[in-house]
Amino acid sequence: MRAKLSTGIPGLDNLLGGGILEGHVVAVIGLYETGKTTLGLHFVYEGLKNGESCIIISFNEDEESIVENSKAIGMDLEQFKDKIQIVRLEAVEVKRNIEKIESELPEIINASNAKRMLIDTVSVLETIFEDAERYKVLAMLRRMLKSARITAIITSEADKYNPNSSKYGLLEYICDGLISLKVIRKSELDEPILGIEVVKMRRTKHSRKPKPYAITENGIVVFEEAEIF
Ligand SMILES: Nc1ncnc2c1ncn2[C@@H]1O[C@H](COP(=O)(O)OP(=O)(O)OP(=O)(O)O)[C@@H](O)[C@H]1O
Ligand SMILES: [Mg+2]
Repeated sequence: MRAKLSTGIPGLDNLLGGGILEGHVVAVIGLYETGKTTLGLHFVYEGLKNGESCIIISFNEDEESIVENSKAIGMDLEQFKDKIQIVRLEAVEVKRNIEKIESELPEIINASNAKRMLIDTVSVLETIFEDAERYKVLAMLRRMLKSARITAIITSEADKYNPNSSKYGLLEYICDGLISLKVIRKSELDEPILGIEVVKMRRTKHSRKPKPYAITENGIVVFEEAEIF
């Protein structure tokens, strides 16, 4: 039996039946500002607290801004600077030289013996590739993560009309699991409610019920006892 890794969010671990299976690649999708990066940071921070080496691949933010944002939710990444590597990638560069990424990323993972990885976000990458190429690049990412035996979270934008599907409908097929962060409105006039749902998780008995959550000064809190309506 493979071990389950805590996400660092107790309510989410319970929805997942304990956590994310070691070696799984899990997509976290949602519209803007739904807490995708925050969820990923919880996952990495939990690993760091356990003494695991972790890697953050960031397409959006530089290291300084990731460290700052983590501080705002009570995570001090600097104390783990020996265990964490933050790699900034430009989507355009990746497109120009995909072979370089394919050969260099596994080296980075092996050299640090990292156990967890956050890739935040592949949205721009997905956008700049044409249909056929998009699948190829996501499949390459999966192959690379699987052969490195790392447990990973990949964040991406959700489809505007179907929050349980990624924008291009591909990421969920290359990932072992899909967690959706959604904005739920009872009516146009009501304040929106944030809901988290484990849409898919291979080899796991998980809850399928969306639960309300909030983003606080301590990061994401899932209200397990509450119902959305
Ligand atoms: N300390 C905090 N207290 C309360 N809310 C916070 C705090 N820090 C961040 N937030 C809220 O978290 C949300 C952003 O979270 P996050 O950056 O993880 O989302 P995201 O889905 O990654 O967004 P994007 O699509 O822009 O990348 C914002 O709505 C912000 O107001
Ligand atoms: Mg983000």
